[in-house]
Amino acid sequence: MSMRKIGVLTSGGDAPGMNAAIMSVAKNAARFGLPLVGIKRGYNGLLRKSTSITEDLQELQLDTILDIADQPGTYLRTARCDEFKDPQWREVAVSTLRGMGIDGLVIIGGDGSFQGAMRLCELGIPCIGIPGTIDNDLAYTEMTLGYETAAQVCTDAIRSIRATSRSHDRPHVVECMGRHCGDLALKAACATGAEIVLVPEVPWSIDEVAARMNKQLIKGNSRATIVVAEGCWDSMEPFDMYTFLTQNGKQCFEGEPMSANRLASVIKRKCGNAEVRSTVVGYTQRGAMPVAADSAFAFEAGHLAVKLLHDGMSNQVIGVRKGQVFHMPIEEALKTKREFRRDLYNLVNDIHIGK
Ligand code: ADP
Ligand code: F6P
Repeated sequence: MSMRKIGVLTSGGDAPGMNAAIMSVAKNAARFGLPLVGIKRGYNGLLRKSTSITEDLQELQLDTILDIADQPGTYLRTARCDEFKDPQWREVAVSTLRGMGIDGLVIIGGDGSFQGAMRLCELGIPCIGIPGTIDNDLAYTEMTLGYETAAQVCTDAIRSIRATSRSHDRPHVVECMGRHCGDLALKAACATGAEIVLVPEVPWSIDEVAARMNKQLIKGNSRATIVVAEGCWDSMEPFDMYTFLTQNGKQCFEGEPMSANRLASVIKRKCGNAEVRSTVVGYTQRGAMPVAADSAFAFEAGHLAVKLLHDGMSNQVIGVRKGQVFHMPIEEALKTKREFRRDLYNLVNDIHIGK
């Protein structure tokens, strides 16, 4: 079927480079003579729950979009939309699309958003996915929009922290995002020469980490950095933090979850009261100006997405393999098994100062 009009949406967590991708989609829609509609706040915009249509859907003019191309965040807004997992709500989405004369969609997001795209394809709406997530948890592709930028933000943060840590002789725990994926933390740890990295993919124990920190201190390295992925608490061996901290002079609430701050408190008490501090890099990772690699990928991905729709393709995701932008079926892409770089993890954790 030949396309009359297409739509674009961003879904899930925002990622640096999403605006560059929207810009590229807009440029290429114009190139192929296709009117373009922006759908707001992920799949929510298709469910038409807002009182005003402009809250949900917007005809995108190239002039407006050119102005936002190099900005972080997403001009279309993004959101998670639980209703979209319900088939009845997806029927509502399809009637919105049919009512607007939108024949195909470009969906910029992560694996959850791609699940939604597959469901829309089953209902006869051609969809093409562009990977946008800082987590790097999509195994089929070497690049996702935002990962390189977020890794740079973490690296910059850790470099600054290591400078002040050195001045004060203080070890530091730094937490990076990544949900269930340790890649961001691992990359930043490699880039900064951090002494310890903890990730959800590899089990670890507090005692072993404290012993490694103690070794660093004995060797005279008083500013060692422990980079932790936010998901690493899931792979931590059980530890009674409440009893340990309350018995060692630190107030703590029963049932309180482990965190970077609490890990710092525990390590301090297991390492001769070293002045361990902590920082959570947090949302700065998502709101940063995209690095060139992310924006350049967005440029190519946006072109390929519109071209595929124009050529009558559907149910595809775009990615990078061996440095080349390519596309493949969504279902197959999502089945690709992720391989964690255990070799790099071992290098960071085993080869350190004085060893
Ligand atoms: P990401 O796309 O970054 O992985 P999420 O996992 O939060 O982010 O998913 C984003 C959105 O994609 C969800 O809020 C929901 O609207 C949609 N989605 C996720 N899983 C499904 C599913 N199984 N079926 C339909 N839609 C889904
Ligand atoms: O998926 C991107 C991400 O930033 C994860 O790294 C993080 O766990 C999550 O989103 C945070 O989600 P929210 O924006 O809902 O707090």
